[in-house]
Amino acid sequence: MKKIEHIGIAVKDIESANDLYAQLLGEKPYKQEEVEREGVMTSFFKVGPNKIELLEATKPDSPIAKFIEKRGEGIHHIAFEVEDIKAEMKRLKDEGFRLLSEEPKKGADNKMVAFVHPKSAHGVLVELCETITK
Ligand code: CO
Repeated sequence: MKKIEHIGIAVKDIESANDLYAQLLGEKPYKQEEVEREGVMTSFFKVGPNKIELLEATKPDSPIAKFIEKRGEGIHHIAFEVEDIKAEMKRLKDEGFRLLSEEPKKGADNKMVAFVHPKSAHGVLVELCETITK
């Protein structure tokens, strides 16, 4: 793992959350991007070498909608940057971690992503992300 790439925060209304986080961080989001497959709208803020990702559900069966229903708004996942996502997925699998998918998927902000089930990480949804370079 290279560094914490971003922290994902589930919000009910991304427009008002954008305004609030812009006030908090002193900077506007540098991008807003929909990931249709996951049913989310995302926005990204830079904080030094790390980022904050806000996530709003775009449909009722989105994982973000379910998360907010169960636990309310708040920290949803922690994302770690990795050099080689497939190698890292294999390493974690061999260590006994439960992954949410067999293969990495295309995520927001030019990343290939995969998730570790919160049940195998003390209640934390862990995201692995590798920057797409080509
Ligand atoms: Co994320």
